[in-house]
Amino acid sequence: MYRIFVTRSLPGNALDKIKDRCNVTVYPLDRTITKDELMTYLKEADAVISMLSDPIDKEVIEAGKNLKVIANYAVGYNNIDIEAATKSGIAVVNTPDVLTEASADLAWALLLAVSRRVVEGDTMTRAGKFRGWAPELLLGVPVYGQTLGIIGAGRIGQAVARRAKGFGMRVLYHNRKRLPKAIENDLGMSYAALDDLLAESDFVSLHCPLTPETKHLIGPRELGLMKQTAVLINTARGPVVDEEALLQALRKKTIFGAGLDVYEKEPLLTPGLADLPNVVLTPHIGSADTRTRLAMVDMVLNDIIAVLNNERPQNLVNPEVWGRR
Ligand code: DGY
Repeated sequence: MYRIFVTRSLPGNALDKIKDRCNVTVYPLDRTITKDELMTYLKEADAVISMLSDPIDKEVIEAGKNLKVIANYAVGYNNIDIEAATKSGIAVVNTPDVLTEASADLAWALLLAVSRRVVEGDTMTRAGKFRGWAPELLLGVPVYGQTLGIIGAGRIGQAVARRAKGFGMRVLYHNRKRLPKAIENDLGMSYAALDDLLAESDFVSLHCPLTPETKHLIGPRELGLMKQTAVLINTARGPVVDEEALLQALRKKTIFGAGLDVYEKEPLLTPGLADLPNVVLTPHIGSADTRTRLAMVDMVLNDIIAVLNNERPQNLVNPEVWGRR
């Protein structure tokens, strides 16, 4: 029987369905597994379902002597040393597509929450400080008809752009590669150089993967290019933004606000960030709706079963590894 190790309890009961074929062990604690614990569990495992919060580095990979597949319960896989996995002949799979719409929804939830000061309003109302309608109460920035700048126009960036149609927005995007004209036309978005996008957008939403090239893509210079009325949304990966520089921009009000679902040193926040009223903070819940999270479980399990049956998995991150089989 193959052994599957899961680093965190998952929603639903899909794991039960494979228990007749596989020996499944789920990490019993409700916290991120430590590196030492992970290395111990992996000694026996043929497959692991990892979370985006589990760093799977070379040492961890080498501890998995029998490991055939690492299934990351996320679309992003910057937590995994792909090169080391490939060298060890281990397939890495992830969960693209299925979480696209949920992630785009959350980017929009943050965009609306920041621009219309929803969290400040909620806090004030709960505290009994709503003393009646007032013309200047919690004035925000407009959304309808404004310009949205999308950085990283993959599946999620495009889904965010699609939603902007309903808000009558002009949409700019910046991407490593320009998209085919047909997609630009369909989504009604125009390519822009990064600096132009930052200078012209009322909302800047980040959807690029974290790579050495995108680390601190948004730093003091880039924040300085943004309008004083602009809002920055980050649902991609924390280190894409220089969080200290963002803190200063929010403090000095050189931008209107920010909505963050991810953090540079997740789960830690840069000290001072949580004290600011002009930032809305969520705990990395981009894909966290029930339908999506259940579908993600099915997806990783299907790909694990495929690899263990020597079939090419659907969402292979390191196709080079398959060629060598
Ligand atoms: C992912 O799956 O990579 C996303 O960050 C989920 O929110």
